[in-house]
Amino acid sequence: MNNKIGIFDSGIGGLTTLKEIQTLLPNESYLFYADSKNNPYGDKEQDELYSIVTNIVEYLISRKVKLIVIACNTATTKCIEQLRIDYPNVTFVGTEPAIKMACERGYKNTLVLATPGTIASERMQQLVEENKRPNENIMLIACDKLANAIENNDEEQIDRILHYYLDGFVDKQIDAVILGCTHYPHVKDKIQTFFKDAILIDGNDIVAKHVKFELWAHGVLKTGNTPGTIEFIQTKK
Ligand code: DGL
Repeated sequence: MNNKIGIFDSGIGGLTTLKEIQTLLPNESYLFYADSKNNPYGDKEQDELYSIVTNIVEYLISRKVKLIVIACNTATTKCIEQLRIDYPNVTFVGTEPAIKMACERGYKNTLVLATPGTIASERMQQLVEENKRPNENIMLIACDKLANAIENNDEEQIDRILHYYLDGFVDKQIDAVILGCTHYPHVKDKIQTFFKDAILIDGNDIVAKHVKFELWAHGVLKTGNTPGTIEFIQTKK
């Protein structure tokens, strides 16, 4: 079985996820689909986003991938449930804000940074309701346009947006900051400067372990020492 693992995002965000998976599974081969043309996903209506995502899924299926990683919190929280219904034979691994992990670790004050789409999703409400303990505070911040500024590598815009959303928290006691969008780890150092004592969590290691488990469970985990390959595809505006 030489099939690749398909992985997609609205651009370069998913590279942070790919890196983590590839570090854990270097023998696997990957087909990375960066949908920069449709970035940002975070402010798309449900129907439009679902149609964009199904086009990518159909393409990856046509390339006979053995598993699809949705390296995007927005597409996962808004689409994965329906995808699993519409494509019952495909194994999907999604990426969700690591709220469960933060709550299990017992952080008192946790900030979740994500796209407007992720923050407004039903799944986000569910994640908070299912995991938050009575003594824990979880604050949700919809960082409008941040993923797009990161995608465009627009430093000035990135700094402006970060100050706009984060300045108000600088003198507050924040224990953990969840990077609930796969673009945000690219500016992790900048975010850390606002929260010197907080731990930043991106959840990509959870995704990597989940991918390994699913491959193993389906009997398609690669063994041996031959290094795999990475194929990149990028859509452009
Ligand atoms: N990187 C994606 C996420 O994790 C999407 C960002 C966007 O396109 O708005 O949510």
